[in-house]
Amino acid sequence: MSMRNTEQHWGWPSKLLHWLTALLILIQIPLGYYADDLQRSPLKLELFGWHKSLGMVILMLAIMRLLWRMAGSIPTLPDATVLQQRLASLGHSLLYGLMLALPLSGWVMSSAANRPINLFWLVEVPAITGPNKALKDIAEEVHEVSVTLLLVVLAVHIGAALWHHFKLRDSVLKRMWF
Ligand code: HEM
Ligand code: HEM
Repeated sequence: MSMRNTEQHWGWPSKLLHWLTALLILIQIPLGYYADDLQRSPLKLELFGWHKSLGMVILMLAIMRLLWRMAGSIPTLPDATVLQQRLASLGHSLLYGLMLALPLSGWVMSSAANRPINLFWLVEVPAITGPNKALKDIAEEVHEVSVTLLLVVLAVHIGAALWHHFKLRDSVLKRMWF
């Protein structure tokens, strides 16, 4: 398996990072909603400990992915019109933007609320800002709006992947797999 992305295929680092982040985000979303709904309790704190740790891992993976992508080329869509190509790249930019906006707003929210982020109960992540109630409220709002947007964009993204595979019967889904 080749490492580099080319005009025709994804290298394994991009594939691995795609499916790993996808898996973690698909755990992270229900975890966030579930923990948010719980009454104050030790379980709630523990689940948010996991949510924050996982979220920081997603941030690191997303940054690695973007850097790796910028270091080379990426495959073009087979038989796509300019409009399709543009829509796909707009969707992918939105996904990258949200993959950064979610953890960053979470980080700001925790810091502004003066709650430390303890990565898997091993290392404390430095606060990104001092305590600040107004900023905490804004970050919380950004987090919520971003999650909602992510759900919409993801539905389109997954729908498009399945449409390529089952309707157009092209290689788009297969080439993202191993
Ligand atoms: C949280 C879940 C997911 C996120 C955040 C995500 C994000 C992304 C992003 C940002 C890209 C663009 C890669 C790039 O241009 O660098 C991409 C490509 C792709 N994704 Fe996802 N994805 C997710 C889940 C899925 C799922 C569940 C499927 C399949 C049903 C899927 C199928 C694909 C395919 C086939 C491509 C390659 C498109 C191409 O080759 O042009 N993704 N994904
Ligand atoms: C891709 C990463 C992330 C996703 C998909 C995600 C998703 C969610 C979801 C679905 C909720 C519940 C709905 C809501 O109240 O907005 C939530 C809440 C929350 N998340 Fe995240 N999150 C991510 C990263 C993070 C990170 C890195 C942190 C902190 C370091 C964090 C901290 C929080 C907090 C404190 C709440 C409770 C918000 C409240 O009090 O309303 N999240 N997240």
